[in-house]
Amino acid sequence: KEENVEVAEQDALIVVSNRLPFIITKNPLTGDVERKSSAGGLVTAVAPVVAQCKGKWVGWTGVFYGPNEEPDPIPEADINDKTPTAGIKAEQIVPVYCDEKRFKNYYDGCCNGGLWPLFHSMQDRAVFSDDHWQDYVAVNELFAEKTVEAIRNVREANSNVTPLIWIHDSQLMLAASTIRELSKKDDIPIKIGFFLHIPFPPFDIFSICPWSKDILCGLLECGVIGFHTEGYCLNFIDCCHRQLSCRVDRSAGIIEYKDRHIRVRAMPIGIPYDRFVQLAEEAPRVIKRTTETVILGVERLDYTKGLIHRLQAFEKLLEDHPEYIEKVYFMQITVPSRTNVQEYQDLKQEIDQLVGKINGKFSTANWSPVRYIYGCIPQSELASYYRDASVALVTPLRDGMNLVCKEFVACQTGDPGVLVLSRFTGAAELMQEALLCSPYKIEEVAEALHKALQMPLEERTMRMQSLQRREKKNDVNTWMYMFMQAMESNLLKPDQKIIT
Ligand code: F6P
Repeated sequence: KEENVEVAEQDALIVVSNRLPFIITKNPLTGDVERKSSAGGLVTAVAPVVAQCKGKWVGWTGVFYGPNEEPDPIPEADINDKTPTAGIKAEQIVPVYCDEKRFKNYYDGCCNGGLWPLFHSMQDRAVFSDDHWQDYVAVNELFAEKTVEAIRNVREANSNVTPLIWIHDSQLMLAASTIRELSKKDDIPIKIGFFLHIPFPPFDIFSICPWSKDILCGLLECGVIGFHTEGYCLNFIDCCHRQLSCRVDRSAGIIEYKDRHIRVRAMPIGIPYDRFVQLAEEAPRVIKRTTETVILGVERLDYTKGLIHRLQAFEKLLEDHPEYIEKVYFMQITVPSRTNVQEYQDLKQEIDQLVGKINGKFSTANWSPVRYIYGCIPQSELASYYRDASVALVTPLRDGMNLVCKEFVACQTGDPGVLVLSRFTGAAELMQEALLCSPYKIEEVAEALHKALQMPLEERTMRMQSLQRREKKNDVNTWMYMFMQAMESNLLKPDQKIIT
């Protein structure tokens, strides 16, 4: 359910993100352009605010156009679309167009081939190329130019508003400097904030990036820089101190740069908690708890998620505890991601083979230990798997935050399950009532699974209630409010629910 968001007039939110808050597809046969809403928590929380404050959303449309092709107009939302994104009118969208080659160098090459593995502390996988970096710079400039266009538009519509620019994620770490430079000429007061959705690595790893200084300087053009955890904030402050010789105050989260004071804040993202509770309460039963014991994994197919280690841990559980044979199965739902990138294709093959190997090794006439789904499933169905699973196995090798564990917690509306969680997720910093483990240590994960499967009801309830209290309080509304507060914006009032 979406509530009316009351926003003050003074700020107009301009969100800048690689992807728009909905997916645009062009039918190659009819040429028709369609707009499909996205259900992600971030979009659900941010979209209603953009809609209400007459703000803008700057992002790539997902469609490539040739040099002589006229881009299609952005479609309005379908009248039956009741999602929060539907409130954003086409005129509020500022599309970024880019030619295919440049975009691939920027996104597949620089973002996914270099920055993604490095920021997840997997430097051996990172590939750095000057060509990719040049296109990363160029695409960031493109986004920045479009943002300046958006700034001018919101001011033309209302000269009293202050544009509040909120840049998202590792794809756009340089955009702030061009935005600041170009908007100086207009003499419009602007506020710029940034949020990183992935980890920020320690200095020794970050400095491997050949363009680490450019990235720091780009980010420092913002007034507020948000990360998921205190640990990432400290890593960032440390890098600014050591690489740029900035004066810093670690405990206050302040960096001095070009006579400005930049605020660095931990703002752990949450989920639309109440929505997941509602989905879990309404979802049909898909697993019979009385006869089936399910260990559940849900991830995008990404090497950071530790899917191979996880399967090996389940294999080890069956080896060490044959009493689970024919009693327990592991259900892994894997969502396709970045399918153009070779490493992701290779990983898919490796997972397919390992699933086959484990099933071949342990299956009996009536039972197979691993059920593997490769594809997207609707959120309502996902909620029923979360609710009915006995254990959630969430073991990324490294993860900025991880929302799967939070969604699982919200969906425990009946007999509570147990969360087995990797220490190397941002979520683990607060979710101490989970069974925390190192995904690199296969035996440890297998033993955590055994402990989870054996845990008495009283302990499960105690742990789960405590996790639920925290996640309900720190939901995505709270995250949005924290950011607005750090930006000294009056767009949201405390405790104002954007989504329920
Ligand atoms: O976790 C960071 C993130 O950018 C998410 O926001 C997103 O869901 C995921 O990585 C995959 O991103 P993309 O498909 O845009 O590369």
